Amino acid sequence: MKIDAILSPAELPALARRDLRDTACVVFDVLRATSTIVTALHNGAKAVIPVAEISEALAIRQKQPGVLLGGERDGVRIRAAQTGGRDFDLGNSPREYTPEKVRGKTIVSTTTNGTRALRACAGAQTVLAASFLNLTATAQFIRQLQPAELLLVCAGTRENMADEDVLAAGALGEMLVNEPVAQNLKVGRAVPCPPPVEASIPVQQQSHGAHGVTRPTLSASVETARNAWRKAKSKLLEVVSEAENARRLLAIPDLRDDVAFCLRQDVFNLVAGLDRDGMIRILI
Ligand code: MLT
Repeated sequence: MKIDAILSPAELPALARRDLRDTACVVFDVLRATSTIVTALHNGAKAVIPVAEISEALAIRQKQPGVLLGGERDGVRIRAAQTGGRDFDLGNSPREYTPEKVRGKTIVSTTTNGTRALRACAGAQTVLAASFLNLTATAQFIRQLQPAELLLVCAGTRENMADEDVLAAGALGEMLVNEPVAQNLKVGRAVPCPPPVEASIPVQQQSHGAHGVTRPTLSASVETARNAWRKAKSKLLEVVSEAENARRLLAIPDLRDDVAFCLRQDVFNLVAGLDRDGMIRILI
């Protein structure tokens, strides 16, 4: 498996020209689109439809009046003045997506970066919406899938790179290097997993463990993300709180708790995948 990463949203338009048919994409918008999507699914939403524009969300609602409209512009719920009619049902705070509000519902979501990044990956073999909240479940799914190419897509904030997305991508890269194959997965013959790679050993070249298990090859951008994660992981809230997206959310009293909410690791044991019909559902 080759692992590459897009660390900045400036690289997203190029995805349209890239052949992604053999690639599994993992999209991170930790603050907050992908965290919100996995929370909604965990709390019983049937599916989330990511769209780029408000007008697309409104068109879907016109055809399917039962859907809920969610998302944000400038971090806050989309209001009647932006839709030419009515307020969206939900903003983009994961804490709004409670079981009472979302159980059994399909949610159409449009956000500044996250839903656009998801749409940009639509031509890929597999597209996952990932976050710290479901990181280990996502890693486990990838170990089992063993795609030839894995692309970690950091959605960013507006035009800029977002530290929290890069850190989550680095954390996933680290997990996949340390444990390339699912512990309970048989590869060829029944072989044990190779021992974890020592932190000091760079995994630049594709290499084979003692038992023929292939370790991932990491691009320079994944190494950058992985190094950032190693430095930040013991003080994640502190580091992310200094970054642009978190500072914006922390300044809004109703949204400030979203930051700590989204930085919790592995609270949901689910994998969220974009189906061919454009809907994100629980895969496992
Ligand atoms: C985005 O898609 O840009 C975000 O998730 C922004 C936010 O939730 O504030």
